[in-house]
Amino acid sequence: NTVNWDPEDTGKSGYDHFMLKEIHEQPRSLRQCLQGRVDELGGQVELDELAGVNPTSVQFVACGTSYHAALYGARLFQEAGIPAQAFLASEYVTAPPPVDDALVVGVTQSGETADTLSALRAAKRLGARTLGLTNVVGSTVARECDHVLYIRAGPEIGVAASKTFASQLVTLNLFSLAVTDDHDRESIGSLRDLPSTVQEILDDSVAAEVATAYLDADAYFFIGRGLNHPVALEGALKLKEITYRHAEGFAAGELKHGPLALVTDNTPVIAVATGDDEFARKTVGNVKEVEARDAPVIAVTDGQSDIERYADHVLRVPETHPRTAAVLASVQLQLFAYHTAADLGRSIDKPRNLAKSVTVE
Ligand code: G6P
Repeated sequence: NTVNWDPEDTGKSGYDHFMLKEIHEQPRSLRQCLQGRVDELGGQVELDELAGVNPTSVQFVACGTSYHAALYGARLFQEAGIPAQAFLASEYVTAPPPVDDALVVGVTQSGETADTLSALRAAKRLGARTLGLTNVVGSTVARECDHVLYIRAGPEIGVAASKTFASQLVTLNLFSLAVTDDHDRESIGSLRDLPSTVQEILDDSVAAEVATAYLDADAYFFIGRGLNHPVALEGALKLKEITYRHAEGFAAGELKHGPLALVTDNTPVIAVATGDDEFARKTVGNVKEVEARDAPVIAVTDGQSDIERYADHVLRVPETHPRTAAVLASVQLQLFAYHTAADLGRSIDKPRNLAKSVTVE
């Protein structure tokens, strides 16, 4: 008697794909990321790795999913009053901006991406101090940078990043809170609660059913504003990587400046709007415009704005601090991309033409 099994499946703990396993590992990987770094009583973040790091400005360099994390990180620093910009690493090297006393931060899960390494080396030649934000201990970025901050996500096998993206966002939060000596208990508390709020999403998400409703879509558009702009970009990237369907992410405000011409009744618009601030309300305004053109609307929301009135489907996230809401929204979009790809029968863990780590420029 023989049992047919693929040795690769043994590592999947019963999940159909590593990606789904890694999506479901996020409560644990986020707990690891936060472990020992948040002093709840004192309401403060402690990152020993950052002793002596006091940037007056920050330049982030990164590629792919990590670039979306970098956009989010740059915004956190800007909100804290520290000038910050995110650059695509492959473009940064073509004309590095003056570094003055900027800290140049390479965001790279693998720590081996050639474009990101080149950008960090270019910055170094210009005299910048560098910091690597990575998942891999002993990686080239970890060895070459002046400082290293680990995201502690654990190994990720799926080519499309999932749990490492969430850990990058959380580590960038810790990084910005630590260097600005911010004791905002509300945002620190919401980070601490992430393992359980992510678990709530994993338990209750209807992303699988929503995904099934749109398998014949001509294209998928993702919109978001502020911290949810990188979330929208990442939602689109995830979908294109593993489904091979056309997907694009836009800043919600840009929709009317061109992309609206592409919107039809067969192009779902996935709108990320958390909270009920001015930005969420403006995104709701953008959603009304696509709804008036008969596009199906999938709202990713915590229910605070009235976006649901214009939505055909809702992917709900628990109500929390805006920084943390972006992490939660991205988990719903990971599930949406995963289930679309699973329904289409794609090679989810090893999408065609893509590699986990790209070591050529
Ligand atoms: C490759 C992967 C992407 C990843 C990018 C950057 O293109 O397919 O998923 O986001 O590299 O990888 P890094 O290791 O630098 O984060």
